[in-house]
Amino acid sequence: MMGGLCSQLAALLLLLVVLPSPAHGAEESQDQTVFSRIIGGQDAQKGRWPWQVSVQKYDDKKHEYDHICGGSLISAQWVVSAAHCFHPPVSPAQYRVVLGAHQLLPLSPKPVLAEVQKIIPHPRYNRTSFVADVALVRLKEPVKSTFIRPISLPGASHQFRVGKKCWVTGWGNVEVTKPLQPPQTLQQLAVPIISTADCNKRYNTLNPRSPLGPERIKTSMICAGYMDMGSPKGFCKGDSGGPLACEQGGTWYLAGVVSWFLTRKVSGIVCSHPKFPGVFTRVTAYDSWIQEHVKGVGPLPALLQLH
Ligand SMILES: *[C@@H]1O[C@H](CO)[C@@H](O)[C@H](O)[C@H]1NC(C)=O
Repeated sequence: MMGGLCSQLAALLLLLVVLPSPAHGAEESQDQTVFSRIIGGQDAQKGRWPWQVSVQKYDDKKHEYDHICGGSLISAQWVVSAAHCFHPPVSPAQYRVVLGAHQLLPLSPKPVLAEVQKIIPHPRYNRTSFVADVALVRLKEPVKSTFIRPISLPGASHQFRVGKKCWVTGWGNVEVTKPLQPPQTLQQLAVPIISTADCNKRYNTLNPRSPLGPERIKTSMICAGYMDMGSPKGFCKGDSGGPLACEQGGTWYLAGVVSWFLTRKVSGIVCSHPKFPGVFTRVTAYDSWIQEHVKGVGPLPALLQLH
């Protein structure tokens, strides 16, 4: 339904962190691995994505918090985000999580600001291959609110059909160096799921002899987005860690965590190349790891989902 509108609107997606990729070696010196934000989306409807959070880090020089990544609330006290958002590691005391926000500048509606107790990046997170780019963030206090809700975790065996339209949301940049303009309204973009084989095929057109091999998109990743667009659509800096949300049978599931995409450096780094889908961490692949830490969060909705 929103797809048509999306394609009309120029502009915004949220989450990219640019990673110079020395590990890719000389062969890939033309390529840049770019961690993500949202491009070519539209303003979200207020309250539509009640699990979306903004992970913010305190800037000692500016004496204020900066939005660094997105995340998804999966229970009253736990948020799922990306491991690369917390690299290099700093004390949890330097972060806060903003829940229930629609706009970030100024923060509205009256959001909930939560302190962070603990950050658990996946122990197998690999900064070269981006495998296991997932982190758990435990809040100091459970969230109590009627308008903030967790998104359901799909069980380990849940399949998201290729072609299914899901949604990516975030407050990331609208271009590599261009932040979302105030009031920084949450952006949303509908993205179809793309098969791992097609996604690998497309990425392999960049450099088939990549040191990462012809299968750099692992089964623990999930691709979604566009491969034949005239204008960029996808995610960018600041969207990282945010949700790829898919609705099924009236329940919204966290299918992916915004992670990365690779694009050829033609005229500088672009956030979202019209021909390359975004790559997300596939949440089902990390189900048991999440369950280990977050007891009692299953495939069933933790609360009734209103969508
Ligand atoms: C990370 O991934 C790269 C590329 O696949 C691999 O060569 C390297 O051994 C991995 N590092 C670890 C610590 O597993």
